[in-house]
Amino acid sequence: MANIDQHLEFTAEVPSNIALVKYWGKRDPDRQWPANDSLSMTLNAARTITTARIHHDAMDKMDKGDVLLRADMDGDLQPVTGNDKALRHLAYLRRELKMPPALHIATKNTFPSGCGIASSASGLGALTLAAISAWTGARSLTELAASGFDLPRLAELARLGSGSACRSFFGGYCLWTAGAEPESQTVMQVYDEDHWPLADLILIVSPETKSVSSSAGHLTTASSPLFKPRVAGIPARMRRVRAALAARDLDALGVEIEAEALDMHAVMMTATPSLRYLLDGSVDFLSWLRKEREETGLPAYFTIDAGPNIHVICDLKDAAKVSARINAAFPHLSIIADRTGAGPTLTGRPLP
Ligand code: PMV
Repeated sequence: MANIDQHLEFTAEVPSNIALVKYWGKRDPDRQWPANDSLSMTLNAARTITTARIHHDAMDKMDKGDVLLRADMDGDLQPVTGNDKALRHLAYLRRELKMPPALHIATKNTFPSGCGIASSASGLGALTLAAISAWTGARSLTELAASGFDLPRLAELARLGSGSACRSFFGGYCLWTAGAEPESQTVMQVYDEDHWPLADLILIVSPETKSVSSSAGHLTTASSPLFKPRVAGIPARMRRVRAALAARDLDALGVEIEAEALDMHAVMMTATPSLRYLLDGSVDFLSWLRKEREETGLPAYFTIDAGPNIHVICDLKDAAKVSARINAAFPHLSIIADRTGAGPTLTGRPLP
């Protein structure tokens, strides 16, 4: 443990990501070994901002002294207690890295949490980055890499908190491969954010937190008769998605990501217990989008995570037009206008 500095606070900003080829199901939950490779686009506006510092009053205590505050929907910081995923991950990091000092951490999302905008990806990513910065005293990603925590290492540690978090450590388009064994997983950038900036118009069908978390959902996959065929088809799907990305071909990409999202939701719905994340409003929107595309040539496609909200993917130059058409048809629903983004940032500054 190097350079403990009690007079600094560290702010990590980690973007969310939207999977184009989804991670759904695990070969080994304990080692967070996914059933298949996945590929995502890193977002820009949807992010978690987490500030950490050494908790002055608790230098000599283990995790009992941690304080974790999370902003609620009104932006008010509330203490997090009990069996929370973030507290469990903090305890894991402390054990794994042998970093005893207790931390004071405050965190907020720039978007509604737990409803299919991958808040666990950005949240667990930002927690990992902020906590390790406070423990090591590193004030930038460069200093952190020099302390032994480069982006692949941070991604690996964050993955143990939430699988999809590992893909938030690189900007642009990011590939997480499952490998032949748990230890040979890799996370890497396949294209940076300038290769093909796309818009992700996130339609908020419902901001409510979903009743079954992704973590619980992953464990139901084996019970679906559609799961094995899905996993068997992923390598071919991945090749087609990568070819569409390489060629910047929206129609080819769109066909794949829509089929992929529906494939994952088919596994969810045919599992025991059956999971239904889509609401009637989500399905109404999907029907509308397909009809608009067929009848008016609207150049936009959907993908969906484990939640009711719809990510509409289109070229950046068409984003305003697509957004206006959605607003006209669904005036009661709000849209978070996001786009392909860069990876995380880290700053360290003296305490105020
Ligand atoms: O990282 P988790 O455990 O929250 O799982 C994420 C699962 C999906 O968001 C549905 C798909 C994905 O690849 O991000």
